[in-house]
This record gives sequence, C-alpha cells and structure tokens, in this order.
Amino acid sequence: MANVLFAVADDFRFDHGPYLQNLSGEGVTIYFTTSRRAFSWVEVKCDAWSEPRCFYTVRDGLVEAYGTRNAIRITGLEAGREYSYRLVAKEMKEFRPYKIVYGDSIASQWERFGTPSEGIDRCSFVVINDGHDDASKVRRLLGYSTLNSADAVFYLGDMVSHIEAADVPYKGFIDVSVELFARNKPFVAVRGNHETRGNLGRTFGEYVGRPEGKFYGIYYYGSTAVIVLDTGEDKPDAHPVYGGINRFDDYRREQARWLGEQIRSKRFRKARNKIVLMHIPPIIPGEDNSPEGHAVKHLNALFVPLFNKAGVDLVLSGHTHRHFFVDKGTAENKFPLVINDHKSVIDLSVEGEKINVKITDEKGQITFDQNF
Ligand SMILES: [Fe+2]
Repeated sequence: MANVLFAVADDFRFDHGPYLQNLSGEGVTIYFTTSRRAFSWVEVKCDAWSEPRCFYTVRDGLVEAYGTRNAIRITGLEAGREYSYRLVAKEMKEFRPYKIVYGDSIASQWERFGTPSEGIDRCSFVVINDGHDDASKVRRLLGYSTLNSADAVFYLGDMVSHIEAADVPYKGFIDVSVELFARNKPFVAVRGNHETRGNLGRTFGEYVGRPEGKFYGIYYYGSTAVIVLDTGEDKPDAHPVYGGINRFDDYRREQARWLGEQIRSKRFRKARNKIVLMHIPPIIPGEDNSPEGHAVKHLNALFVPLFNKAGVDLVLSGHTHRHFFVDKGTAENKFPLVINDHKSVIDLSVEGEKINVKITDEKGQITFDQNF
C-alpha cells in the first residue's frame, strides 16, 4: 500500500491549469503547473497555419525551465479566430552545469479558445466576488450564470481570505475555474483587500495575468472599456494589523493619476460604454467612521470626480457582503453603483449602448435586473 501511495505522490503530471489570462486579439497567456521541475512549453494549432507552433518563455537568451509554475505567452494571433493548444513538459531529473538529464515527457489534451473579434458592439461577463475560499459556492454561482455565452469571468476580489500556503488560490477559485471554463475562456482577478493578506499575499500576482504587470488596467472589448482598479486594504496603512508594511494610500493615488491620463486617450474617449470594476466601493450608504471605512472615503475623494469626468456608465463593487444599489445623483456620483453581496452572481451584458445587470442568488433566484 505504501508503494502505491508513493507512486501516486511521485506521479509527474500537470497539477493545476491550464487557464487563460490576458486574452486579446493578438495573444493569450497560458498558466499551468507541473508536479515536478520541468522544461515546459505550449503547442498551438490554427487552421490558417501549415503546422503547429511551439511557444516558450524566453528571458535574456534562456528558455525558462527547472520550475513548476508556468505562464507562457502565445503571440502572433489574429482577432476573431479559433485556436487549439496543448501543454507539453519534460521532467528535469538532473540539472547540472554541464549535463541535463530529462525524465518522462507528458502532454495534455488539446483545448480550444477563440480570440475576440474587432469592432464588436456586444459583450458579456460573469462577475463573482467575496468567495472567501469557498470553491463550492463559486461552482454553484457559476452554474446559475450565463457562463457559456460570456466572454470572460471577473472575480471581483476576496476570492480567498488570506494566502499562507501556495495552494490557497488554486483551491479557492482557480481549480474550479479550470474545471468549468478557464481552459477555454479567461478570467480576470480583480484584487480585493483579502488577497493582500497573509505571509504569501505578496505572491498573488504570480497566479494571475495582469495587464502591464499591474493589478489595475483597462480591458477593451470592442466598443466597451472595462476599467479594473485595485482598491487595496480597507483600514489606514498605519493600522497596527498591517505592521507598517502597507502603502495603499500612495498606491490609490498612483491609480488616480494613471486613470486621469487614460481617460484623455482617444481609445477611451471613443468607447461607447465605460464600466468600472473595483472591489471596495467608492460609496457605501450610511456613515462609517470605523477604521474599515478609510478606503471608501479615500476612493470616494480620488475617484468619484474622475468617474464623473470620464463619463463612467456603471461601477460594480463587492466587499460589503451586502447588496446595495446607489443610483446616480445619490451623492456626487453621476454614475450608478451596484454592490454585490458575497453569495450572488452578476451577469453583465452590453449590447450597443445598453448595459444590463442581472443578479442571481445562491438559490438561483433573480434578485436584481436593471438596464443602464
Ligand atoms: Fe473585501
């Protein structure tokens, strides 16, 4: 029996992924891990190509190898096309200065994905937030969503409670995503305050693709701009629980400066729909003078004027574990704000200039359905 267990534990295999990140008309990044140190790559096929192409991560003349976690960028794709891909890995049993000994080679099954078409005027997304390590809840909510027709899933923060073991993001939401959709369509992880917590919180960026290496950015889907912000921690940086090693006030200001530049760009100004996804909302009804209210006040001061100026059509948030709808004009906001609770899924769809938000709870009941 002990031998059998050893054989299972020693099995060389792909243990997480593959999952798609940063999908655009030109490329996609494929994330996966191997159970032992390996030299790994991705093979891609397309009807328009005479033969499959192999993609590696190459840095400074060296092909990335002898690791277990991979994020391999596939480039040279065309918008609106179908591709198939598979993972290949060769175990590296020995890696000495003048000799490399390879072990077994493995290959995954072929998976398919499509690149987004240019000039589209419709898109749709599934949004889930505040999963807090509960993968079975994520599974249930995805089951009630329009996942099959959606372009992407946005995880709107706090999908884990803190990171103190390397498998926490996989167990919390990535593995279930791989099983249900992420081999074929991407998810975007919007960072919540809880993803920053724990002694491995600083590694969260290694699990997910980020535009320009930042947790904030703009995703364009045809005529729709989706702005993702990283709202940081909720309490002031000087709060004792952070031990003096957070600098989120500066980081939120950095994002406000960045967004101020972005909204002047031609591409942004031409976008017909402007949607913001941010974990901590910039407005929560009711006065909150607790330390936890710090980020809301800071976000309000920095971003509400910017969103008004940018002509933002809709803001989606989580964090409160309670549903709120803040209509435009409630405070200084010229945009509606929908705050999702921790046990409901949002189907967000855009058609022309109509934005629809539908919220379904854990029992499959629609609790909110509004056009903007
Ligand atoms: Fe939160």
